[in-house]
This record gives sequence, structure tokens and C-alpha cells, in this order.
Amino acid sequence: DRSIKIAPSILSADFANFGQEIQAIEAQGADWVHVDVMDGHFVPNLTFGPAAVKAFRPHVKTVMDVHLMIAPVDPYIDAYADAGADVLTAHVEAGPHIHRTLQAIRAAGMKAGVALNPGTPAEAVAHLLDLTDLICVMTVNPGFGGQKFIDMTAKIRSLREMIGDRPVHIEIDGGVDPTTAPLVVEAGADVLVAGSAVFRGGSVEAPEVYGENIRKI
Ligand code: DX5
Ligand code: ZN
Repeated sequence: DRSIKIAPSILSADFANFGQEIQAIEAQGADWVHVDVMDGHFVPNLTFGPAAVKAFRPHVKTVMDVHLMIAPVDPYIDAYADAGADVLTAHVEAGPHIHRTLQAIRAAGMKAGVALNPGTPAEAVAHLLDLTDLICVMTVNPGFGGQKFIDMTAKIRSLREMIGDRPVHIEIDGGVDPTTAPLVVEAGADVLVAGSAVFRGGSVEAPEVYGENIRKI
């Protein structure tokens, strides 16, 4: 369905408190939970791996949306299936065999996502549209929360046209806030990742701030 979903990124959560943070954002209206996996190689930052993601799983009642910013991807697909990822997204830039990777993600029982860095054109996914459930359009260069939004609305429009009537989500990741969200939704996005815009000013002691922030987006 094409209703707009908000997927808070726990990259902006308290890293000592992931379980409670996940419960708080879901209680406050999050539709999905976005989990940013970084390897210090594909992107210049490190977060957590499959064991941590598996520990998040029991806290997630909605959809666990795992964004892999790692290279290579294929050796870890089974570990993320075992960790309980619902959606597993790999970057088209992470290796020469994204087509094989998307097939392997589906074969492991997950929804397959493909992410595009800002410098990568929409055409990079032209031959992947029947192998993917979600296209993640990065509106920052991946690696860190809290960066400035890069306008990718032309790319989003091209992708929506290429997708046609296929059941493929367009997810936007990076710099989504109450100012930028309407632009990307108008262009055809339906899943909005937001880290700093959801977590700013709140905490597990003041979770209602998360709810106010989610409703503002
Ligand atoms: C960036 C990550 C994002 C990040 C978004 O590399 O993939 O999911 O957490 O953070 P904000 O919403 O603060 O730009
Ligand atoms: Zn992300």
C-alpha cells in the first residue's frame, strides 16, 4: 500500500539503550524501525553487526528495516536473515553483483531493498525492478546522521515512473525533516527514514517528544 510510513533510524538513539528506544518510538507512532549497519569500509563509520540486530528483533513489533552500508554483502545475508530482518537493503555501489545479491536476499526469505548513493543515477536499478521490493534513495552521502538534505526529487520522479504499477516502495534516507518530507512525498516517496528529526529533544524518559517529532514530519 502507498500510505506514507515513518521509519525512525536508531542511529540517532541512545546506543546504551536500544531495546527501550525501539519500544519508545513504536509506542509513539513509528511505522517501521530503520537499522543502519555500517562497516567502516563502505562508509567511514562503524555501528553494529548481526548479533546486535538479532538482539533488537524481539523489541521490534512493526517492520525491521535493515540498511546495509557494508561491502561485501553476500557473505552476511544469512546472518541478517537469522537476525530477523524483514527488509534487507544493499547498496548498488557495494559490489559488481547487485542482481545476484537481491536474488539471494529474497531466497533467504526477506524483502529485498536496493539503495542508491546521491551520485548514482536512477538508471542503475533499471534492470532490478522485478527483483526488488524497495528502492532507497539516499539524500545524504551515507555514514552519519544529522547531515544536510541533498535534493534528489528528480531521481525520485524518474524512479516512480520506471516502477510503474510494480509493488515497490521508494524510501528516502537522509536529512528528512518537516521541511524536506513534503518535497519527497510529492515526488513519489512513501517510506521516510528520519534519525535526528525524530530523536532530537526526546529520550526514553521523555518519549512523547518522539511522538510530537514524528507527527511533525
Ligand atoms: C545515513 C543513514 C541514515 C541516517 C539518517 O548514513 O543511512 O539512516 O540515520 O539520519 P538523519 O535523518 O539524521 O539524516
Ligand atoms: Zn539508513
